[in-house]
Amino acid sequence: MNTETLEFTPEVEAATRPIYERLRDLIPEVEWPVHAPLIARINELKKERKATLVVHNYQVPVIFHGVADYTGDSLGMAQYGAETDAEVIVVCGVRFMAETAKILSPEKTVLLPDLEAGCSLAASITGEDVRRLREQYPGVPVVTYVNAYADVRAEADICCTSANAVQVVESLNSERVIFVPDGYLARYVATQTDVEIIPWDGTCEVHERFTADELREYREGFPGVEIIAHPECPPEVLEEADFVGSTSGMIKHIAERHPERVVLVTECSMSDNVAVEFPEVEFVRPCNLCPHMKRITLPKILHSLETLEPKIELDPEIAARARRSLERMLEVGRGPGQG
Ligand code: 13P
Ligand code: SF4
Repeated sequence: MNTETLEFTPEVEAATRPIYERLRDLIPEVEWPVHAPLIARINELKKERKATLVVHNYQVPVIFHGVADYTGDSLGMAQYGAETDAEVIVVCGVRFMAETAKILSPEKTVLLPDLEAGCSLAASITGEDVRRLREQYPGVPVVTYVNAYADVRAEADICCTSANAVQVVESLNSERVIFVPDGYLARYVATQTDVEIIPWDGTCEVHERFTADELREYREGFPGVEIIAHPECPPEVLEEADFVGSTSGMIKHIAERHPERVVLVTECSMSDNVAVEFPEVEFVRPCNLCPHMKRITLPKILHSLETLEPKIELDPEIAARARRSLERMLEVGRGPGQG
């Protein structure tokens, strides 16, 4: 179907009204006729296609609140993808997340609405790099943050996400662990465990931009503000934070503590999405945008459902080895306090 033929009819208006009511503070009424026909058509088509939409916390609110069947962090998306009985999984996130879904459900059609949705961390390392690290540190187990492509996960012993990195590292019962590709997450994990961490020096291009000075300015400018940061941030930024956690860990923290004022030191859309759920909490909203996450749009999601493209395809041998490291992670589960 040509998306330009979609119209803001009274039926579309009625079908999408409950969604708009939730987004009223974020989206001007004049803009809704652009989003609503796409949302209505996507929600119809996903039933016809027996498809499920798995949406990361960094997606824009019209996707997060408009069309998602599941929303969450990387670990939650992996767990959901492993359990869903849908025939088609549309991943609204970045490529490594879609690879996770394909690795865990090889028989299913996994769609990523824009195959160029990458990640600076995943791009920072290859399977060959991991083999070289193993030669350099014989016998030392390798943990890969899930923000890595299938070839890297195939070479690792186990995956982790920001929600369970410490537990995964400790599950290996080793005095030393190689941790790739996020150097800042590796350093954060090292502060939480006695295990010696050998880091790779990849960085997230979104979180590395935050500075400790910026956080101190929030504290001075917004008295009483609770600062919640993602562990992909540099160490001096995390030292200024009141709580450090994965994106879903942040949401759980707000749900439990109901701070009056909060700043989420992470990607822009996260605050917009979470603020809808907690209207009583004041969100200070710094904006560092992930250009990869923002490649996913409503028109591209609709196109994916119409054409069942673009599909994620993986080398079966690499996918089978990557699956072992993901399954080992899923056995460990989510760390305490991570929601
Ligand atoms: P989590 O949602 O797992 O915390 O990951 C954050 C992130 O940067 C994903 O790209
Ligand atoms: Fe990668 Fe950072 Fe974007 Fe997450 S926010 S997808 S880690 S670049």
